[in-house]
Amino acid sequence: MVVNIAVLASGRGTNLQSIIDNIENGYIHDACIKVVISDVKDAYALERAKKHDIDAVFIDPFKFSNKSEYEKELIRELQDYYIDLVLLAGFMRILGSDFVKFYEHRILNIHPSLLPAFKGLRAQKQALDYGVKVSGCTVHFVTQDMDSGPIILQECVPVLDDDTEESLENRILQKEHVIYPKAVKLWVEGKL
Ligand code: GAR
Repeated sequence: MVVNIAVLASGRGTNLQSIIDNIENGYIHDACIKVVISDVKDAYALERAKKHDIDAVFIDPFKFSNKSEYEKELIRELQDYYIDLVLLAGFMRILGSDFVKFYEHRILNIHPSLLPAFKGLRAQKQALDYGVKVSGCTVHFVTQDMDSGPIILQECVPVLDDDTEESLENRILQKEHVIYPKAVKLWVEGKL
């Protein structure tokens, strides 16, 4: 059976690209990205999807009276595609409890820190400001608490004395592109 995947992304979509590439090269098999959904109209992630003949959908959160209505629309859209697994890839919104319950155990997220350290926005800056010597990235199940669900995989990188937010971000991103496809493969193979 083929696992139907949806990717939710708000930005440039390099993690989306790493999943696409690893499906196309056969590392992740029996899985298909059916749709990429963004809350940002001009997110480059949508362009990446189109380049690979994947449906790209912008759902404007500001069109809905509240978060719950927006998420109902998200669920409706995902149901149209018979989605089994939802991947958050730089999706910069916190999902509410109805959505999380609906897809319980079926939503994964990647975060650019070694959770539970440095949750939330600009995790790389938080790591630099704190002065840690090692940071990294985490793939985890999404639960109702932000950046807190059960951890699936982590990878670490050194934090160098002359690092900027950008240089650390790039070093971590290289690892993100390795562990996210790996975690997706494990999920698809029923190994989690
Ligand atoms: C990635 O670094 C991802 O870990 C982070 O956003 C970036 C998206 O990059 N996610 C979060 O901070 C979620 N809390 P991408 O659009 O190139 O995949």
